[in-house]
Amino acid sequence: MSGPQLSPLRVNPKTQEPYLQLPAPHDNIIITPARMSDADDIIRCLNDFAIYKWLEGPPFPYLPSHADEWLATVTSESNTILEELGVAAKNNPDGPPILVSSCPVRILREVLEDGSEVFLGDLGTPRCCYPEYNPGFEKEKLHEKNLSRPVGDPEIDWCIGYYLASSHHGRGIMSVALGTIVNDWMVPRMGAKTIKGEAYSDNWGSRKVFEKNGFKLLKTVEFEGGRHLKNGQIKEGMCVYVYKS
Ligand SMILES: CC(C)(COP(=O)(O)OP(=O)(O)OC[C@H]1O[C@@H](n2cnc3c(N)ncnc32)[C@H](O)[C@@H]1OP(=O)(O)O)[C@@H](O)C(=O)NCCC(=O)NCCS
Repeated sequence: MSGPQLSPLRVNPKTQEPYLQLPAPHDNIIITPARMSDADDIIRCLNDFAIYKWLEGPPFPYLPSHADEWLATVTSESNTILEELGVAAKNNPDGPPILVSSCPVRILREVLEDGSEVFLGDLGTPRCCYPEYNPGFEKEKLHEKNLSRPVGDPEIDWCIGYYLASSHHGRGIMSVALGTIVNDWMVPRMGAKTIKGEAYSDNWGSRKVFEKNGFKLLKTVEFEGGRHLKNGQIKEGMCVYVYKS
């Protein structure tokens, strides 16, 4: 498949897998769908203190069963979007690109000179679940309402979840990857108008990635008594950033 319905995704001629390529100087990095074979790399990353200490969502410790379950979910989501794009390409090959429910590519990979690929991390684009709120009625209501909005609804609050292998931290990779996903896919192909970025107040790396991509600080929420994460960390507060397209 090619043409406007898939744009700006490219297709690997050997594997037929779609991908986004980061701009230079990071053009040796691509973003592809997840693969079931990513399990070991994901388990390694999500049990790495440099990564899990900042994350509240994934289970801890992160087990092979968690990776298999997650991969089954996200590969199925990605396949569904690619099928929708395939149908649109067949029915309306030159027509305006359709809006879809999420981004079919999310795994960052470094392409080495011999063509082999190294898993670098994950960048997901889910609907916002308002992590700055403590569990309760208000948070559930907001989330439920956000999930109920139809594809393309400009009122949807999107959010970002990401991590990068610690071997590659501090090289500017996630800043460029976030800009690519936002500008090349979320805004034009998901119709995203409001994208939120939430980071614990002391996660300066993540906060800078948002700021470098034009996300503005909306509010800082202090957790009364600290928020105790299942990975043993205690967090004092969270910064909520917002990007408006
Ligand atoms: C957050 C994360 C994705 C950033 O990815 P990255 O590719 O290392 O980030 P970049 O190299 O693009 O850095 C962006 C900016 O933040 C700065 N930065 C990166 N890590 C930092 C840190 N630990 N402390 C302070 N600044 C940091 C960089 O110097 C850069 O600033 P500059 O452009 O002014 O030099 C990565 O550190 C990571 O995976 N962390 C663990 C998981 C996580 O925190 N996920 C986000 C949860 S909200």
